[in-house]
Amino acid sequence: MSSLSFAQLPKPFMVLAPMDDVTDTVFRRIVDDCAAPDVYFTEFVNVDGLQSPGRDRLLKKLQFTAGEQPLIAQIWGKHPENFRKTAAELVDMGFAGIDLNMGCPEKSVVNNGCCSALINNRELALEILQATREGAAGRVPVSIKTRLGFNAIDFTWHELLLQQNLNMLTIHGRTRKEMSAVPAHWDAIGEIRKLRDRIAPDTILVGNGDVESRAEAEALAAQHGLDGIMIGRGIFHDPFVFATETPWPNYTKEQRIALYKKHVQLFAETWAKNERRIVTLNKFCKIYINGFDGAKELREHLMAADSAGDLIAQLDAA
Ligand SMILES: Cc1cc2nc3c(=O)[nH]c(=O)nc-3n(C[C@H](O)[C@H](O)[C@H](O)COP(=O)(O)O)c2cc1C
Repeated sequence: MSSLSFAQLPKPFMVLAPMDDVTDTVFRRIVDDCAAPDVYFTEFVNVDGLQSPGRDRLLKKLQFTAGEQPLIAQIWGKHPENFRKTAAELVDMGFAGIDLNMGCPEKSVVNNGCCSALINNRELALEILQATREGAAGRVPVSIKTRLGFNAIDFTWHELLLQQNLNMLTIHGRTRKEMSAVPAHWDAIGEIRKLRDRIAPDTILVGNGDVESRAEAEALAAQHGLDGIMIGRGIFHDPFVFATETPWPNYTKEQRIALYKKHVQLFAETWAKNERRIVTLNKFCKIYINGFDGAKELREHLMAADSAGDLIAQLDAA
Protein backbone atom coordinates (compact mmCIF):
# COMPACT_ATOMS: atom_id res chain seq x y z
CA MET A 1 0.00 0.00 0.00
CA SER A 2 1.30 3.47 -0.74
CA SER A 3 0.88 6.69 1.18
CA LEU A 4 -2.57 8.25 0.84
CA SER A 5 -2.71 10.93 -1.84
CA PHE A 6 -5.60 13.31 -1.14
CA ALA A 7 -5.22 14.82 -4.62
CA GLN A 8 -6.30 11.49 -6.11
CA LEU A 9 -9.50 11.19 -4.09
CA PRO A 10 -12.85 12.19 -5.59
CA LYS A 11 -14.63 15.26 -4.20
CA PRO A 12 -16.39 14.68 -1.96
CA PHE A 13 -14.74 11.41 -0.91
CA MET A 14 -16.45 8.81 1.25
CA VAL A 15 -14.90 7.28 4.37
CA LEU A 16 -15.91 4.23 6.39
CA ALA A 17 -15.65 5.36 10.03
CA PRO A 18 -13.39 3.58 12.49
CA MET A 19 -15.59 1.43 14.75
CA ASP A 20 -14.10 -0.70 17.48
CA ASP A 21 -14.91 -4.41 17.16
CA VAL A 22 -16.71 -3.66 13.87
CA THR A 23 -14.44 -2.36 11.10
CA ASP A 24 -11.86 -5.14 11.17
CA THR A 25 -10.36 -6.73 8.05
CA VAL A 26 -13.35 -9.09 7.72
CA PHE A 27 -16.03 -6.41 7.68
CA ARG A 28 -13.95 -4.07 5.54
CA ARG A 29 -13.73 -6.82 2.93
CA ILE A 30 -17.51 -7.31 3.03
CA VAL A 31 -18.05 -3.57 2.61
CA ASP A 32 -15.47 -3.51 -0.17
CA ASP A 33 -17.43 -6.19 -2.04
CA CYS A 34 -20.79 -4.44 -1.53
CA ALA A 35 -19.92 -0.81 -2.30
CA ALA A 36 -16.46 0.47 -1.44
CA PRO A 37 -15.79 3.80 0.24
CA ASP A 38 -12.79 5.85 -0.94
CA VAL A 39 -10.93 5.52 2.38
CA TYR A 40 -10.95 2.93 5.19
CA PHE A 41 -9.91 3.24 8.83
CA THR A 42 -8.90 0.48 11.24
CA GLU A 43 -10.51 0.24 14.66
CA PHE A 44 -8.68 2.40 17.18
CA VAL A 45 -5.59 0.66 18.55
CA ASN A 46 -3.89 1.55 21.81
CA VAL A 47 -0.22 2.48 21.37
CA ASP A 48 0.65 1.89 25.01
CA GLY A 49 -0.69 -1.66 24.66
CA LEU A 50 1.13 -2.13 21.36
CA GLN A 51 4.41 -1.20 23.02
CA SER A 52 3.83 -3.58 25.95
CA PRO A 53 4.10 -7.35 26.40
CA GLY A 54 0.35 -7.50 25.56
CA ARG A 55 1.13 -6.41 22.02
CA ASP A 56 0.12 -9.62 20.22
CA ARG A 57 -3.46 -9.33 21.47
CA LEU A 58 -3.82 -6.00 19.63
CA LEU A 59 -2.19 -6.90 16.34
CA LYS A 60 -5.42 -8.48 15.08
CA LYS A 61 -6.83 -4.94 14.86
CA LEU A 62 -4.06 -4.06 12.41
CA GLN A 63 -4.52 -7.01 10.07
CA PHE A 64 -5.49 -6.10 6.50
CA THR A 65 -5.54 -7.47 2.96
CA ALA A 66 -4.88 -5.93 -0.43
CA GLY A 67 -8.50 -4.91 -1.13
CA GLU A 68 -9.19 -2.62 1.82
CA GLN A 69 -7.34 0.36 0.44
CA PRO A 70 -6.35 3.06 1.13
CA LEU A 71 -6.32 2.15 4.83
CA ILE A 72 -5.55 4.56 7.66
CA ALA A 73 -4.48 3.13 11.01
CA GLN A 74 -6.15 4.89 13.91
CA ILE A 75 -4.28 5.01 17.21
CA TRP A 76 -4.87 6.28 20.72
CA GLY A 77 -3.03 6.31 24.02
CA LYS A 78 -1.25 8.41 26.56
CA HIS A 79 2.50 8.36 26.09
CA PRO A 80 4.04 10.32 23.19
CA GLU A 81 7.02 7.99 23.04
CA ASN A 82 4.71 5.05 22.28
CA PHE A 83 3.04 7.07 19.52
CA ARG A 84 6.48 7.74 18.02
CA LYS A 85 7.49 4.07 18.03
CA THR A 86 4.10 2.87 16.82
CA ALA A 87 3.93 5.41 13.99
CA ALA A 88 7.25 4.19 12.59
CA GLU A 89 6.00 0.59 12.77
CA LEU A 90 2.69 1.43 11.08
CA VAL A 91 4.50 2.99 8.13
CA ASP A 92 6.61 -0.15 7.80
CA MET A 93 3.48 -2.32 7.97
CA GLY A 94 2.19 -0.45 4.91
CA PHE A 95 -0.62 1.76 6.19
CA ALA A 96 -1.54 4.67 3.91
CA GLY A 97 -1.93 7.11 6.80
CA ILE A 98 -2.06 7.46 10.59
CA ASP A 99 -4.97 9.02 12.45
CA LEU A 100 -5.00 10.14 16.07
CA ASN A 101 -8.19 9.53 18.03
CA MET A 102 -9.00 12.69 19.98
CA GLY A 103 -12.74 12.06 20.12
CA CYS A 104 -13.65 8.82 21.89
CA PRO A 105 -15.98 9.77 24.79
CA GLU A 106 -15.87 6.51 26.80
CA LYS A 107 -15.43 7.03 30.53
CA SER A 108 -12.61 4.49 30.82
CA VAL A 109 -10.44 6.25 28.21
CA VAL A 110 -11.36 9.78 29.31
CA ASN A 111 -10.60 9.04 32.96
CA ASN A 112 -7.20 7.88 31.78
CA GLY A 113 -6.60 11.23 30.05
CA CYS A 114 -6.90 9.80 26.51
CA CYS A 115 -8.88 10.55 23.33
CA SER A 116 -11.54 13.27 23.91
CA ALA A 117 -9.82 14.16 27.22
CA LEU A 118 -7.03 15.63 25.07
CA ILE A 119 -9.44 18.48 24.18
CA ASN A 120 -8.76 19.60 27.78
CA ASN A 121 -5.06 18.76 27.71
CA ARG A 122 -3.87 20.55 24.62
CA GLU A 123 -0.21 20.46 25.56
CA LEU A 124 -0.28 16.65 25.57
CA ALA A 125 -2.38 16.60 22.36
CA LEU A 126 0.33 18.59 20.57
CA GLU A 127 3.11 16.44 22.03
CA ILE A 128 1.32 13.34 20.74
CA LEU A 129 0.95 14.90 17.29
CA GLN A 130 4.60 15.90 17.24
CA ALA A 131 5.78 12.44 18.35
CA THR A 132 3.59 10.70 15.76
CA ARG A 133 4.92 12.96 13.03
CA GLU A 134 8.49 12.18 14.07
CA GLY A 135 7.73 8.45 13.92
CA ALA A 136 6.01 8.73 10.54
CA ALA A 137 8.90 10.90 9.30
CA GLY A 138 6.84 12.38 6.46
CA ARG A 139 6.29 8.97 4.87
CA VAL A 140 2.49 8.99 5.34
CA PRO A 141 -0.06 11.70 6.23
CA VAL A 142 -0.93 12.18 9.91
CA SER A 143 -4.51 13.21 10.67
CA ILE A 144 -6.80 13.77 13.67
CA LYS A 145 -10.40 12.76 14.37
CA THR A 146 -12.13 14.73 17.08
CA ARG A 147 -15.41 16.20 18.32
CA LEU A 148 -16.86 19.71 18.58
CA GLY A 149 -15.60 20.19 22.12
CA PHE A 150 -15.62 18.54 25.52
CA ASN A 151 -18.57 19.95 27.51
CA ALA A 152 -19.57 22.59 24.95
CA ILE A 153 -18.73 23.51 21.37
CA ASP A 154 -15.27 25.08 21.51
CA PHE A 155 -13.79 26.35 18.26
CA THR A 156 -10.52 27.34 19.99
CA TRP A 157 -9.71 23.62 19.92
CA HIS A 158 -10.19 23.40 16.15
CA GLU A 159 -8.27 26.63 15.63
CA LEU A 160 -5.35 25.14 17.49
CA LEU A 161 -5.52 21.91 15.49
CA LEU A 162 -5.76 23.79 12.20
CA GLN A 163 -2.67 25.81 13.13
CA GLN A 164 -0.72 22.53 13.14
CA ASN A 165 -0.83 22.18 9.35
CA LEU A 166 -2.61 18.82 9.51
CA ASN A 167 -3.08 16.72 6.40
CA MET A 168 -6.66 15.89 7.37
CA LEU A 169 -9.06 16.72 10.18
CA THR A 170 -12.27 14.76 10.77
CA ILE A 171 -15.01 16.31 12.89
CA HIS A 172 -17.70 14.21 14.54
CA GLY A 173 -20.40 16.84 15.03
CA ARG A 174 -21.06 16.40 18.75
CA THR A 175 -19.32 17.31 22.00
CA ARG A 176 -17.93 14.66 24.30
CA LYS A 177 -20.72 15.40 26.77
CA GLU A 178 -23.34 14.73 24.10
CA MET A 179 -21.93 11.24 23.45
CA SER A 180 -24.32 10.05 20.70
CA ALA A 181 -27.46 11.35 22.38
CA VAL A 182 -28.36 14.34 20.17
CA PRO A 183 -28.37 14.88 16.39
CA ALA A 184 -25.00 15.89 14.95
CA HIS A 185 -24.50 19.67 14.62
CA TRP A 186 -23.63 20.00 10.94
CA ASP A 187 -23.80 23.80 11.08
CA ALA A 188 -20.94 23.77 13.57
CA ILE A 189 -18.95 21.54 11.21
CA GLY A 190 -19.66 24.20 8.56
CA GLU A 191 -18.19 26.85 10.90
CA ILE A 192 -15.03 24.77 11.26
CA ARG A 193 -14.84 24.64 7.45
CA LYS A 194 -14.75 28.45 7.45
CA LEU A 195 -11.93 28.36 10.03
CA ARG A 196 -10.13 25.86 7.84
CA ASP A 197 -10.42 28.14 4.80
CA ARG A 198 -8.91 30.98 6.80
CA ILE A 199 -6.24 29.18 8.84
CA ALA A 200 -5.22 26.09 6.87
CA PRO A 201 -6.66 25.92 3.34
CA ASP A 202 -4.58 22.84 2.56
CA THR A 203 -6.01 20.75 5.41
CA ILE A 204 -8.58 18.25 4.15
CA LEU A 205 -11.79 18.50 6.18
CA VAL A 206 -14.13 15.54 6.72
CA GLY A 207 -17.55 15.74 8.40
CA ASN A 208 -19.13 12.92 10.38
CA GLY A 209 -22.37 12.21 12.20
CA ASP A 210 -25.71 10.48 11.49
CA VAL A 211 -25.28 10.14 7.70
CA GLU A 212 -27.45 7.33 6.35
CA SER A 213 -26.86 7.39 2.59
CA ARG A 214 -24.48 8.48 -0.11
CA ALA A 215 -27.00 11.04 -1.39
CA GLU A 216 -27.20 12.57 2.09
CA ALA A 217 -23.40 12.58 2.31
CA GLU A 218 -23.08 14.39 -1.00
CA ALA A 219 -25.72 16.95 -0.03
CA LEU A 220 -24.01 17.69 3.31
CA ALA A 221 -20.60 18.00 1.66
CA ALA A 222 -22.02 20.49 -0.85
CA GLN A 223 -23.96 22.44 1.77
CA HIS A 224 -20.96 22.88 4.07
CA GLY A 225 -18.13 22.84 1.54
CA LEU A 226 -16.47 19.71 2.92
CA ASP A 227 -13.84 17.54 1.22
CA GLY A 228 -15.13 14.25 2.55
CA ILE A 229 -17.88 12.60 4.57
CA MET A 230 -17.39 9.75 7.04
CA ILE A 231 -20.17 7.22 7.64
CA GLY A 232 -20.25 4.93 10.67
CA ARG A 233 -23.52 3.50 11.92
CA GLY A 234 -25.21 4.06 8.56
CA ILE A 235 -23.48 0.87 7.45
CA PHE A 236 -25.54 -1.06 10.05
CA HIS A 237 -28.70 -0.12 8.19
CA ASP A 238 -27.32 -0.65 4.70
CA PRO A 239 -24.12 -2.54 3.85
CA PHE A 240 -24.29 -0.81 0.46
CA VAL A 241 -24.46 2.65 2.04
CA PHE A 242 -21.62 3.90 -0.19
CA ALA A 243 -23.42 2.90 -3.39
CA THR A 244 -24.90 5.56 -5.64
CA GLU A 245 -28.00 3.38 -5.88
CA THR A 246 -28.25 0.83 -3.12
CA PRO A 247 -29.85 -2.53 -3.92
CA TRP A 248 -30.34 -3.23 -0.19
CA PRO A 249 -34.06 -2.34 0.17
CA ASN A 250 -34.82 -4.92 -2.54
CA TYR A 251 -32.50 -7.60 -1.17
CA THR A 252 -34.47 -10.80 -0.55
CA LYS A 253 -34.32 -12.95 2.56
CA GLU A 254 -32.14 -15.44 0.65
CA GLN A 255 -29.71 -12.74 -0.46
CA ARG A 256 -29.46 -11.32 3.06
CA ILE A 257 -28.79 -14.76 4.53
CA ALA A 258 -26.18 -15.44 1.83
CA LEU A 259 -24.36 -12.18 2.66
CA TYR A 260 -24.26 -13.04 6.36
CA LYS A 261 -23.00 -16.52 5.51
CA LYS A 262 -20.20 -14.97 3.47
CA HIS A 263 -19.31 -12.79 6.46
CA VAL A 264 -19.31 -15.74 8.86
CA GLN A 265 -17.14 -17.81 6.49
CA LEU A 266 -14.63 -14.99 6.14
CA PHE A 267 -14.67 -14.54 9.91
CA ALA A 268 -13.95 -18.25 10.45
CA GLU A 269 -11.09 -18.26 7.92
CA THR A 270 -9.53 -15.05 9.21
CA TRP A 271 -9.81 -15.75 12.93
CA ALA A 272 -9.13 -19.49 12.77
CA LYS A 273 -7.27 -19.34 16.09
CA ASN A 274 -10.26 -17.73 17.84
CA GLU A 275 -8.61 -14.30 17.86
CA ARG A 276 -12.12 -12.85 17.91
CA ARG A 277 -14.93 -14.36 19.91
CA ILE A 278 -17.99 -15.65 18.09
CA VAL A 279 -20.24 -13.18 19.99
CA THR A 280 -18.64 -10.31 18.07
CA LEU A 281 -20.68 -11.57 15.10
CA ASN A 282 -23.95 -10.75 16.86
CA LYS A 283 -23.88 -7.08 16.01
CA PHE A 284 -23.46 -8.02 12.35
CA CYS A 285 -26.34 -10.48 12.57
CA LYS A 286 -28.63 -7.49 13.08
CA ILE A 287 -27.42 -5.93 9.84
CA TYR A 288 -28.20 -8.85 7.57
CA ILE A 289 -30.95 -10.78 9.33
CA ASN A 290 -33.40 -7.97 9.11
CA GLY A 291 -36.24 -6.72 6.95
CA PHE A 292 -38.06 -10.02 6.28
CA ASP A 293 -40.75 -12.05 8.02
CA GLY A 294 -39.32 -14.18 10.81
CA ALA A 295 -36.05 -12.22 10.95
CA LYS A 296 -36.33 -11.52 14.69
CA GLU A 297 -36.87 -15.19 15.58
CA LEU A 298 -34.05 -16.29 13.29
CA ARG A 299 -31.71 -13.75 14.89
CA GLU A 300 -32.49 -15.12 18.34
CA HIS A 301 -31.41 -18.60 17.24
CA LEU A 302 -28.34 -17.35 15.38
CA MET A 303 -27.15 -15.26 18.30
CA ALA A 304 -27.14 -18.32 20.52
CA ALA A 305 -24.73 -20.18 18.20
CA ASP A 306 -21.46 -21.15 19.85
CA SER A 307 -19.30 -21.64 16.76
CA ALA A 308 -18.99 -20.43 13.19
CA GLY A 309 -19.79 -23.98 12.01
CA ASP A 310 -23.02 -23.98 14.00
CA LEU A 311 -23.93 -20.56 12.58
CA ILE A 312 -23.32 -21.67 9.01
CA ALA A 313 -25.39 -24.84 9.52
CA GLN A 314 -28.27 -22.74 10.86
CA LEU A 315 -28.00 -20.28 7.97
CA ASP A 316 -28.04 -23.15 5.49
CA ALA A 317 -31.19 -24.51 7.10
CA ALA A 318 -33.00 -21.17 7.32
C1 LIG B 1 -19.51 0.52 17.76
C2 LIG B 1 -18.76 1.81 17.53
C3 LIG B 1 -17.39 1.83 17.69
C4 LIG B 1 -16.68 3.01 17.46
N1 LIG B 1 -15.30 2.98 17.53
C5 LIG B 1 -14.59 4.09 17.18
C6 LIG B 1 -13.18 4.06 17.07
O1 LIG B 1 -12.53 3.02 17.28
N2 LIG B 1 -12.54 5.22 16.72
C7 LIG B 1 -13.22 6.38 16.45
O2 LIG B 1 -12.60 7.41 16.12
N3 LIG B 1 -14.56 6.43 16.54
C8 LIG B 1 -15.25 5.33 16.86
N4 LIG B 1 -16.62 5.37 16.86
C9 LIG B 1 -17.31 6.61 16.43
C10 LIG B 1 -17.56 6.60 14.92
O3 LIG B 1 -16.36 6.54 14.19
C11 LIG B 1 -18.35 7.86 14.50
O4 LIG B 1 -17.58 9.00 14.79
C12 LIG B 1 -19.69 7.96 15.20
O5 LIG B 1 -20.36 6.72 15.24
C13 LIG B 1 -20.59 9.01 14.52
O6 LIG B 1 -20.77 8.70 13.15
P1 LIG B 1 -22.09 7.92 12.61
O7 LIG B 1 -23.29 8.70 13.11
O8 LIG B 1 -21.95 7.93 11.12
O9 LIG B 1 -22.05 6.56 13.22
C14 LIG B 1 -17.36 4.21 17.12
C15 LIG B 1 -18.75 4.18 16.98
C16 LIG B 1 -19.45 3.01 17.17
C17 LIG B 1 -20.94 3.02 16.99
